[in-house]
Amino acid sequence: MLKYFSGMLGLDVGIDLGSSNIVVYVKDKGIVFSEPSAIAAKKLPRGEGYEIIAVGRDAKAMLGKVPSGIEAVWPIEGGVIANFDMTQELLRYCLKRVSSNNAFMVHPRVVISIPAEVTGVERKAVIDSTLGAGAGEAYVVEEPISAALGVGLPIDKPNGCMIIDIGGGTSEVSVISLGGVVVSSSLRTAGRMMDNAIINMIRQRYALLIGETTAEEVKNTIGSALPMNPELEMNVKGRDLSDGLPKSDTVSSIEVREAMEPIFIGIEDMVKTALEKMPPELAKDVVDRGIILTGGVALMNGFAERLSRAINTPVVVAEEPLYSVALGVGKILDNLGQMRRVLMSVERGAH
Ligand SMILES: Nc1ncnc2c1ncn2[C@@H]1O[C@H](COP(=O)(O)OP(=O)(O)OP(=O)(O)O)[C@@H](O)[C@H]1O
Ligand SMILES: [Mg+2]
Repeated sequence: MLKYFSGMLGLDVGIDLGSSNIVVYVKDKGIVFSEPSAIAAKKLPRGEGYEIIAVGRDAKAMLGKVPSGIEAVWPIEGGVIANFDMTQELLRYCLKRVSSNNAFMVHPRVVISIPAEVTGVERKAVIDSTLGAGAGEAYVVEEPISAALGVGLPIDKPNGCMIIDIGGGTSEVSVISLGGVVVSSSLRTAGRMMDNAIINMIRQRYALLIGETTAEEVKNTIGSALPMNPELEMNVKGRDLSDGLPKSDTVSSIEVREAMEPIFIGIEDMVKTALEKMPPELAKDVVDRGIILTGGVALMNGFAERLSRAINTPVVVAEEPLYSVALGVGKILDNLGQMRRVLMSVERGAH
């Protein structure tokens, strides 16, 4: 009955539950919003749960600034749930927001995308928290499959295609052939680790303490993976380590690139190893068809070019790196009948 109604009213929702951003797609509407996957909540006494103070952009703005008693966190770390209750609240907020225009309260059908490398337990946690947040049915799909669909690659062909997704918490390389992930490898070093490397560099070199949000701004504004002409500079504000007072300094793109260097090397090594381990026929396909780079870090100046040089193979940046996974989940929703086979399912009561 429930299924019949949710299908009839058409509330089918696709979610890219990322470590940095949660992107929500509604069938027949497209991407309806994207928000940082941050949440701020006050823990209620006697285990009565949480009172949500802020979600998304507002919560991100509070990170590192909240008074005691309030937690401001990123509940997804390295692509997996690090804080189950908070993740459920984040999903509840998303589902409430997309249901608010519906005259009837329905329990939507939700397809949610997760990294290929997660364990069965982690996958079940995603499904449980989606159902707990009010979904009537919850399905998961592997991120590389949705990313490939999102960038318009034909996933059903026997020719392997490679997707590299560098997000906030995970770097993942996968090869897809005949609708499945045949090779996959991942690191929990990605955009946020780059921000941390920038924080450390600025602390050591300038005795200046900056927060994560400022570091991310530095990375996204002057960060680059290859030398630039001209190199850039940016004024950075923080706290002086010696006297604790506010101070600002000018940081150059050269220093920022050097700070991120070990992370670039780690990602390059991961991709090289994946290529080396691949059966020769598959590697040939990948080289012939080129490699697609997606995830927010794909937007960094020189990143795709550097990767391409490291593996001596063309690397193409997806049209909308921040949205390819959600767009792919949307394609699955648009065609749920045929696409069911790419889903890893668990329905309410079926687990
Ligand atoms: N112009 C840019 N240059 C460099 N990095 C960027 C740029 N724009 C966004 N990013 C980074 O991309 C990351 C977010 O990417 P994305 O939304 O794909 O991650 P996610 O899907 O939330 O995380 P994950 O897939 O790892 O769980 C953040 O670290 C963000 O700072
Ligand atoms: Mg992602």
